[in-house]
Amino acid sequence: MAFEKFHYKTLAQLTETLADQGYPLPSREDCSVLSSPLSIHGKTVPNRIAYQPMEGCDGTPSGSPGELTIRRYRRFAAGGPGLVWFEAVAIAEEGRANPRQLWLTEDNKEDFRSIVRMIKDTCREENGFEPLVIMQATHSGRYSKPHGKPEPIIAYNNPIFEKDAPLSPDHIITDEHLRELEDMMVRSSLLAQEVGFDGVDVKCCHRYLNCELLSAYNRPGDFGGSFENRTRFLMDCVRKVKAAVSPEFIVTSRFNAYDGFPYPYGFGVTEDGGLEPDMTEAKAIIGMLAQEGVDLVDVTMGNPYFNPHVNRPFDGGPYVPDEHPLKGVGRMLYFTGELQKAYPNVKVICSGTSYLREFLPNIGAGLIEEGLCSLIGVGRMTFAYPGFAKDAVAGKVDKSKVCIACGMCSMVMRNGSTPGCVVRDPEVYLPLFKEFVHDRNIIV
Ligand SMILES: Cc1cc2nc3c(=O)[nH]c(=O)nc-3n(C[C@H](O)[C@H](O)[C@H](O)COP(=O)(O)O)c2cc1C
Repeated sequence: MAFEKFHYKTLAQLTETLADQGYPLPSREDCSVLSSPLSIHGKTVPNRIAYQPMEGCDGTPSGSPGELTIRRYRRFAAGGPGLVWFEAVAIAEEGRANPRQLWLTEDNKEDFRSIVRMIKDTCREENGFEPLVIMQATHSGRYSKPHGKPEPIIAYNNPIFEKDAPLSPDHIITDEHLRELEDMMVRSSLLAQEVGFDGVDVKCCHRYLNCELLSAYNRPGDFGGSFENRTRFLMDCVRKVKAAVSPEFIVTSRFNAYDGFPYPYGFGVTEDGGLEPDMTEAKAIIGMLAQEGVDLVDVTMGNPYFNPHVNRPFDGGPYVPDEHPLKGVGRMLYFTGELQKAYPNVKVICSGTSYLREFLPNIGAGLIEEGLCSLIGVGRMTFAYPGFAKDAVAGKVDKSKVCIACGMCSMVMRNGSTPGCVVRDPEVYLPLFKEFVHDRNIIV
């Protein structure tokens, strides 16, 4: 089934369609709440816009930020977000998603120190404040490609992903290796603290390794089966990192509350084989994190490889989804709201908002004022409109600059190049789209 692409002229038309899709989300004409500061872990976030992690696949072979990485973060910083959730940074070479994924090591830590400093300085010079900067620490697991070809390290065999070609058992990570990775997570977090990040995200989303473990119902041993075992890697990492870093350093997680795959292959879903979200375990995770002193979480959903319409609702992508894009947006924001309401003392960031375009501030203000999240996370919008935060906070978002959810940034990435906005930043990214997508005639 195909849907009409985004055509809403008024906020009322948009919210009516959200309601028709089953998600009557709140909205406001007055978006001034977006300019209000928020206290997190004793630090002040100057406004309510968080720039979500957006990997540029543009680092150097040794894992340092490259020229385009620095350009991206300079533009983000000038755009005035209260929080920059710095993209996926590998904790080990084997877990890099591509040979240009960032990878923080003892040898290149000065390069990270300088990009963090640049983000803070640029934002201060342009906007008069410094944003919080949190590093996302990752192991790509099933999606590891450290040398450009798949070298999957999986939590368990999954027939939805592997179909009739199951990966051999040597791809399944051992309990011993998971324990080694816990220590590598600690090492990366200490380096992140040393180079000036305000916090670290023990990444547990989008079906990378840590996230895949959440649904390892049929994995034997200490990291599979029971809820306690499936969350062991996440919780061990959080506890060990917290014990190692200074108390002011933020320890958080961006985690999948719902994967969008049926039980027993998806987390956050009912056990009847359907695809209905069930937030029982996601709530329990936030409760356990809160007990460890975590006071900020970033909630997301889906898998960018297998069900990108759940992860980032779009008008253009690798397939035509069988649900309205606003249903995807509504699902993400509604269930994030359920989690925030369950734990009002934990600051929750929402995801999957860029599809809302110029109405994003209106919905965002409604969500914050009704206690359905604490910060509005924006992803693809940052590529298209790096100055979005500044303009949203000032109440003057420019419709001609917004993300149009065309999917071209992802296509460039999936075809092995460095993603950015092909439409709004064509000087750099249109030639890459032509070379890596158009001329090869591949849409993935
Ligand atoms: C090109 C690209 C790179 C991304 N990189 C990351 C990443 O490094 N870490 C992460 O957690 N999510 C990543 N995401 C997902 C986004 O952070 C975000 O969750 C998603 O785009 C949906 O939000 P949006 O609708 O605001 O774009 C990426 C998405 C895209 C399109």
